[in-house]
Amino acid sequence: MLYLKDGKDVHGNKIELLILNDKIDKISEGFSEEEIKNIEKNEKLEIIDLKGKTVMPGVIDVHTHMREPGITAKEDFATGSRACAKAGVTTFYDMPNTIPTTTTLEALKDKKKLASEKSIVNYGFHFGGSRNNNIDEIKKVLEAKEANTVKIFMNVTTGEMLIEDEDILKNVFKNSKLVLVHAENEMIDKAVEYNKNYGNGLYVCHIPSKEELKKVLEAKKNSELNTEKHPVYAEVTPHHLFLNEEIRESTDRNKMLLRMKPELRTKKDNEFLWEALNNGEVDTIGTDHAPHLISEKLEKITFGMPGVETSLALMLNAYNEGKVKLEMIQKLMSENPARIMKISKRGKLEEGYYADVIAVDLDKEWIVGVDDTIESKCGWTPYENWKLKGKNVLTIVNGKVVYQNNKFNDNLENGKEVEFYE
Ligand code: DOR
Ligand code: ZN
Ligand code: ZN
Repeated sequence: MLYLKDGKDVHGNKIELLILNDKIDKISEGFSEEEIKNIEKNEKLEIIDLKGKTVMPGVIDVHTHMREPGITAKEDFATGSRACAKAGVTTFYDMPNTIPTTTTLEALKDKKKLASEKSIVNYGFHFGGSRNNNIDEIKKVLEAKEANTVKIFMNVTTGEMLIEDEDILKNVFKNSKLVLVHAENEMIDKAVEYNKNYGNGLYVCHIPSKEELKKVLEAKKNSELNTEKHPVYAEVTPHHLFLNEEIRESTDRNKMLLRMKPELRTKKDNEFLWEALNNGEVDTIGTDHAPHLISEKLEKITFGMPGVETSLALMLNAYNEGKVKLEMIQKLMSENPARIMKISKRGKLEEGYYADVIAVDLDKEWIVGVDDTIESKCGWTPYENWKLKGKNVLTIVNGKVVYQNNKFNDNLENGKEVEFYE
């Protein structure tokens, strides 16, 4: 049994947890000495004294590109999952634009095997919609419950997955449950329309701007466009909150590094995203972790940047600057992702749930890329040299300590694939 002693929850209340095997056994405002002694009569008790640090459910990042198979010079499930564990991400979802693309049941199964052999955190997969029409594969995958989501690309970006054929798009919506879209500008309107007419749920990835977020918020508020049968969800990324064109254009290096799809927008757009986020109108923060080697980025314009290693720390720093509440961070990064993807028993601190638990030091001041090592295989971060306040200091995955005080555990177990409910 593992005893997490003297923590605080996001409301500032005292919280203590007892973890048995892979689950949270008991949660209390503070166990008495007697209770602890009684447990110790029957079991060996390992104690971690948190000394008032803040305890949260591990981050669930439902938007990452871990590059395996086929593009593993940039990232793989081992390096990507270490980056997650270090930063407090206990579950990631991988996107299908690998080589081969995850657009057949067989490719999905192969990918699952690779993750199961290498990932030290939990993982899930979004199946891919193919430009070559893979409706039969989508049906097979959903029926076999090998995945419950389908990702489609409606604009050009990294990979060969752009779908332009309207009939294929409609059919993907018809034959899927939740569809995640890379959709920019007018493509957002199209996706909202397909969801209403044919679909069973729409999740708009990485919304970058006021104009595009307004489209999605209007759809969310419209009782015909956003229903129980076909809900609409909005995701924003850390880079569209913390970075903008001005920062991109400030140095020659940034002009090359800070390129992604959708592209960075203005400070005003940052502000609008923050406002909507604090109003509870945004559903999730997903990083769109899309590692490329720095040599590739500097040589020619290449879309995508790493993100899992810095997402939580950036948000904790924003909390320290008074920009967001801790409760909201927990909602956007753990609770809502689990609810929207229908993940079983993760995303909350609750008795009977998997013990995916992190502790953060809200007062820790540190410099990105100077006071820590970069675990992502791509070896860089767009936030290098940023001074942040707030850092993950303990990561527990399925009841096992994976990372503590800047060090990985020596005997790491592999993470589990998430299970989902109907
Ligand atoms: O910038 C991006 N990079 N946007 C995407 O949609 C894909 C991603 C990647 O896979 O590199
Ligand atoms: Zn995308
Ligand atoms: Zn992406």
